[in-house]
Parts: sequence; C-alpha cells; structure tokens
Amino acid sequence: MTTTRRQALLSGLGFAGSRLGAQTKANPELDQALSLPDFETLAHKHISHGAWERIQGGAADEITIGWNREAYNHIRLRPRVLVDVSKLDTRIKLFGQELPFPIILAPTGAQGFVFPDGELAVARGAGAGQAILVISSSASLRVEEVAKSATGPVWFQLYVQRDRGFTRDLVQRAEAAGCRALCVTVDSPTHGARNREERARPELPDRPLPNLKGKDYLDPTLTWKDIDWLRSFAKTPVLLKGILNPDDAAIALKAGVSGIVVSNHGGRNLDTAPATIDALPAVVEKVAGRVPVIVDGGIRRGTDVLKALALGATAVQIGRPYLYGLGVGGAEGVTRVVQILRREFEMAMMLTGRPTIASIDRSAIWEK
Ligand SMILES: Cc1cc2nc3c(=O)[nH]c(=O)nc-3n(C[C@H](O)[C@H](O)[C@H](O)COP(=O)(O)O)c2cc1C
Repeated sequence: MTTTRRQALLSGLGFAGSRLGAQTKANPELDQALSLPDFETLAHKHISHGAWERIQGGAADEITIGWNREAYNHIRLRPRVLVDVSKLDTRIKLFGQELPFPIILAPTGAQGFVFPDGELAVARGAGAGQAILVISSSASLRVEEVAKSATGPVWFQLYVQRDRGFTRDLVQRAEAAGCRALCVTVDSPTHGARNREERARPELPDRPLPNLKGKDYLDPTLTWKDIDWLRSFAKTPVLLKGILNPDDAAIALKAGVSGIVVSNHGGRNLDTAPATIDALPAVVEKVAGRVPVIVDGGIRRGTDVLKALALGATAVQIGRPYLYGLGVGGAEGVTRVVQILRREFEMAMMLTGRPTIASIDRSAIWEK
C-alpha cells in the first residue's frame, strides 16, 4: 500500500490510529483538513448560506472579530533551544477535574443548523476528543438530552433569564444532568447589532429553544446581586463568561465566583471591544492566581493556545472552529478539530522549549 502525502501528514499529527483511519475511509474529506483554517474553508461548502452567516457573523462591522485574530498574529514567540522536550505534560486541573490538555469547547447555539442533531454530535465528538464541552442555553435540545449523549465531562452555559424561577429550575436540571460547572454569560444584556445574521434570518427555520423561556429571555436588569442569588443555590462552580474589564474581575472575585472567562462573545455583541488576548493580561493581573482565567475568541492555532497560557490563561475555549468540524464531518469532524489543535499545541511546546504547562510563562513572549 502506498502512503499518500496526506496520510504521511496525518500520521505525523498522530492520526494514524485505526479508529481515525476508519473515519478517514468513511469521510475522505476529513483527510483534506489539516488545520482549523482548512476546516473553515471546507465547512463553507457544507453549511447552508443562512447557517454560515449565523456562525461567521459578528456585531456591526465585525471589527472585533478581526482584532481577535490579528492580535494573536502580532504576538511573537520567544523560543528556547536545547531543552529536553521528549516528554510533554499538557495536563491541567480545573475545579478538581483533570483535563488532558487546556482546550475546552465554548458554548454555541445553532449546532442543529450545521448538522442534524448537531448538539448530540458535538457532545459525542467532544468526548472522543477528550475535551470538556460547555452546553449552550441556546441548544435546540434539552440540556438533559445533550448531557446524556456526552461521553466526556460537560459544563452548562447559563443565561440568567427574566423568569428567575425558570432559571433556577434550569440550573438544577443541568446539575442533575451531570454538568460540572456553570458558565454564566454576563456580556449579553442584549445581543449586538448582528446585521449579517439578521439579513440571513429569513433563510433559517424557527428552531426549538427548550432551555430558554420565551423569545425575550435576555434580562437587562441583571446585576451582581443576581450572581449572589445564583451562588446561593448552585452546587457547582460558578464562572462568569464575558469579562474584559479588570475592574469587573475584581468585583467577581469579591462576589466569590470560581472562575472567569475573558470573552467578547466571539465579536458578536459589542463591536470595537478589544481582542480578548489584549484584554487578558490586565484581568490575569487583577485575579492574581486566585481563580482560573479562561480565554476565548480567535484561537485557531496551537501557537495561539501557547500564547494565551503564556499571558496567564489557565485554559482556552474554541467556538466557531468545532462548528466547522461539525459541518464537515459531524462528531468525527469535531473530534478532529480538537485533535489538530491539541497536536499543534504540543508542537508549539516543543518548538518553544516549554515541556510543561508551568514552563509556559511570560518569558515565552517576545516583549520588545
Ligand atoms: C454560532 C455561535 C453561537 C454562540 N452561542 C453562544 C451562546 O449560546 N452562549 C454564549 O455564552 N456564547 C455563545 N457564543 C460565543 C462562544 O461561546 C465563544 O465566546 C466564541 O465563539 C469564541 O470565539 P471563536 O468563535 O472565535 O472561537 C456563540 C458563538 C457562535 C459563533
């Protein structure tokens, strides 16, 4: 049997295992995607125009979406040579859970527009890829159903909704379903001016939103006292998702939250908010190691993961990239996206001479 260039590349990425080999036969297109940007290109062909606009689109002029990416491109790495990198340790601990590597799947709605029963495929794909999945409140299936099909650990993303009784029940349902942490989205008193999504909206069918109460669920009255309320009954760690300002990080710590997610909602809410990687260092400084800080937005390469950790993140989340994987190859596509990013992160660790997570610090960034 001859080895194609593609097979050789995949085997170099550690994809020569029989399970993935079998998937490769079933879906030869997965072979073509060697990087997350490759998945983006391929996904465009698979995903309907309406769903594509919904996923890709951001707020207004999409300035922040661009910044999320560009900011990573402007950070230069500072490698060390002649370090023994024959053994890598990529494990981290989060809330008593051990993760084999610091990459999490961010909550995204709209998975059903990308693939039939998209939520279930994502849950299976995340488990096979050994990544934690944060189930979205905007899922088209009940949180219990998604959690049931998960083969790995799941968290739940919560919108504290106008109906607090419904919200409380939802938290309790998610916890009973096995979600191990609550990621409360705090950057959405309203959605942003999602013009691109609005233009495409007539192309998309209505979908059920069983974890949301009514169309008008976002609550603009939400304040810190609601976080106290939530913490009074939540049994799992409460993280706040959508913090950019270090002053908010300071209040979050006083409020007793267990973690912070530095996020600008993938550039979908407040356009011209900064790139998350630019906002991260000041938040990390304020938090001073007291709780984990996770960052998302624009992470597409293993070097991005390393840069985020070097600037103080405990872990990163990806959103759109795994939706591309879902569009190209269902659950297998999601798994493949995670595996590629994980392997690239390992390459970045080796090539910068940082064999452990602890060794990835500010010194890995070329400051001047
Ligand atoms: C299609 C789509 C749907 C999303 N839905 C949610 C959601 O329901 N709740 C939430 O907190 N964030 C949501 N987000 C934001 C993601 O959790 C995450 O912050 C963002 O996608 C990260 O940026 P990236 O896509 O560049 O990786 C969504 C993002 C996308 C692209």
